[in-house]
Amino acid sequence: MEEQHTHSGQGHTSFLIFSASSRSGSLNTRLAKLAAQVIEKHGGTVDFADMAEFDCPTFNQDLEVNNYHPDGAEAFRKRILANDAFIIASPEYNGSMPGNLKNIIDWTSRFRPQPFHQHHALLMSASPSMAGGNRGLWALRVPFEHLGTRVYPDMFSLAAAHEAFNDNGSLKNELLAKRFEDNLVAFKDLVEASKHYPCIKKAWVEFLGEKPAKETGRVE
Ligand code: FNR
Repeated sequence: MEEQHTHSGQGHTSFLIFSASSRSGSLNTRLAKLAAQVIEKHGGTVDFADMAEFDCPTFNQDLEVNNYHPDGAEAFRKRILANDAFIIASPEYNGSMPGNLKNIIDWTSRFRPQPFHQHHALLMSASPSMAGGNRGLWALRVPFEHLGTRVYPDMFSLAAAHEAFNDNGSLKNELLAKRFEDNLVAFKDLVEASKHYPCIKKAWVEFLGEKPAKETGRVE
């Protein structure tokens, strides 16, 4: 069968990974770096980004003249399209996602074709709290699912994250470390299957009894 997505080449799967906190000493950046190690350990390619690369002005539709898109949104769009999937480690702010993350999602959603559509995503969070920032991830699912992103069902939230890491960046709790690795490997397997066996998508649509049609498509 001919490859459908050849952008990352040679049958590899590639992952854009970044932390939604630019804070020095960020717990989410530590978690994102650990995710990158696990993906590489299992043969995936990692494109690690710094959230600052995607910085955008506060969204205002008045700025959208002459097909204007901020450089940060253009950079985010390119990196999403250049990889098979993306992984975000995001802090929880006031029970939701950080405003700057929502801002770059809003700007980037304005491109056509809309870049988040049909891309796989895995969400994770780290927080000193006992819920590990998990409520923020449920909030973050909403815009991504709205945009047609395939958000992986399992999300990983690291509780008491300020005490969770060894000096070498690994997790102190071995059971948790195993769960983290299993979560990432399961996600990676799905991304790989979806890349190499595009017939899965067709079967899904047919099972729902819906014929794909221009009029009922999710975007455009
Ligand atoms: C927080 N923090 C936080 N934590 C949490 O578990 N639930 C929450 O609702 C909030 N709310 C919140 C709001 C704001 C404005 C700030 C600055 C912080 C604490 C947060 O989890 C903690 O600062 C993390 O360390 C932030 O992530 P990084 O920067 O370490 O990745």
